[in-house]
Amino acid sequence: MLEGVTDRHNVSNVSSDMPAPTADTILEWYDRNARRLPWRVSPALSRQGVRPDPYHVWLSEVMLQQTTVVTVGPYFKKFLERWPRVEDLADADLDEVLTAWAGLGYYARARNLHKCARQVRDQHGGHFPDTENGLRALPGIGPYTAAAIAAIAFARKATPVDGNIERVMARLFAVGTPLPDAKPALKSYATSMTPEQRAGDYAQAVMDLGATICTPRAPACGLCPWWPDCLAHAGGTTAELPRRAPKVPRPVRRATAYWMTRRDGAVLLRRRPESGLLGGMMEVPSGDWAESEVFRDDPPVAADWRLLPGLVTHVFTHLQLELQVRAARIDGRRSLGGVWVPVEKFGDHPLPTLTRKVVHHVLAHLGRPDNE
Ligand code: ADE
Repeated sequence: MLEGVTDRHNVSNVSSDMPAPTADTILEWYDRNARRLPWRVSPALSRQGVRPDPYHVWLSEVMLQQTTVVTVGPYFKKFLERWPRVEDLADADLDEVLTAWAGLGYYARARNLHKCARQVRDQHGGHFPDTENGLRALPGIGPYTAAAIAAIAFARKATPVDGNIERVMARLFAVGTPLPDAKPALKSYATSMTPEQRAGDYAQAVMDLGATICTPRAPACGLCPWWPDCLAHAGGTTAELPRRAPKVPRPVRRATAYWMTRRDGAVLLRRRPESGLLGGMMEVPSGDWAESEVFRDDPPVAADWRLLPGLVTHVFTHLQLELQVRAARIDGRRSLGGVWVPVEKFGDHPLPTLTRKVVHHVLAHLGRPDNE
């Protein structure tokens, strides 16, 4: 018995002959209800042995670590139009890849994506390795992504476990241990049900169930194919599961961003250092992001700085950032590092969401800079 895991026979309302859940149940449901997703092969084709392109699976899985299926759709399409094969992505400039990724967040993932494409081109003849271990050796491919690609693209018996699958397993088996400590137990439940055949469809079926029925709030248990097997449903604990360790509040960091325009209206953008948050992305120059009650203000150049009303706020995984913004017209002949870019050309540069928020904040207060 795994620690923190409820015994099927000790949950109130659960009779000891309650059936154990099986992959067959969810696969039958998936055959009828699979979401149509651009990187996915339909269950009907999958049953005939048709596999999706490993490049598509890899790209979608890396993107889906950031965000939802709905957000990823247009990015996935854009990447494939621009770089139809992994070799095309490998041949691209890193900056083009970062620019196309802008808005998805976690830019280290985009760098690893590019590095991985190069390794697949240079060390694997343009073909992804077809085992979990082989995949794990590539940049940016961790246990989740390796298992997802191995199962979905190569029909290996592997079990990727994402947040959706964790939630479904926590409820199905009434795992009361809070996350993240519950992870090994949840993984072992998901693994114990993984079928020899159709492991990729099984994983995607549980993901779909988690995204559409076994949702974090207000799950639609009446539509769930596993409800007769679900210990949380039987014990009335669905709304409480999965439990989570209390969140540690994110520290707040504060800084000033400096919007500098020159006579022709171009704005100074600067590249952030390669390592650290938003590494290698472009920003409206900002001072140190300090854990401080006050906004430090140390303009890069003497000018008639105007403080704009309001703040730009942005939440990263481990910290919350508040920026106050100052704006000034400055002499563009001075060397300040960075590049002068007209606002209408910002789309050609890797601007993370934070920088886009600063741009919107400034344009909302000042309007577009005029040429003189
Ligand atoms: N979330 C992450 N990967 C997924 C996939 N392959 N299908 C559905 N949702 C997902």
